[in-house]
Amino acid sequence: MSAFDKIIGYKQAKHELAQIADTLKNGEVYKALGVSSPRGLLLHGVPGVGKSLMAQCLIEESGR
Ligand SMILES: Nc1ncnc2c1ncn2[C@@H]1O[C@H](COP(=O)(O)OP(=O)(O)OP(=O)(O)O)[C@@H](O)[C@H]1O
Ligand SMILES: [Mg+2]
Repeated sequence: MSAFDKIIGYKQAKHELAQIADTLKNGEVYKALGVSSPRGLLLHGVPGVGKSLMAQCLIEESGR
């Protein structure tokens, strides 16, 4: 069960957010591979399409 399961649809966006969450959770592993976490993320879309929900899920999943 992933925090992202709360989001209906947006398969590609969820996949990308899950990858970012993984870099945040396992920073040392990625650092050894020369991969860094993004320092910021911009979600855009009309009101009510789930941007805040996605941000909340990213926080939950990454533990930040
Ligand atoms: N894809 C989705 N899956 C599940 N719930 C959703 C989805 N999109 C929106 N919701 C629900 O609809 C409501 C509005 O979503 P949210 O607040 O995330 O929108 P927003 O894009 O941040 O809007 P705004 O631009 O006004 O800030 C929330 O209760 C959210 O959980
Ligand atoms: Mg919002």
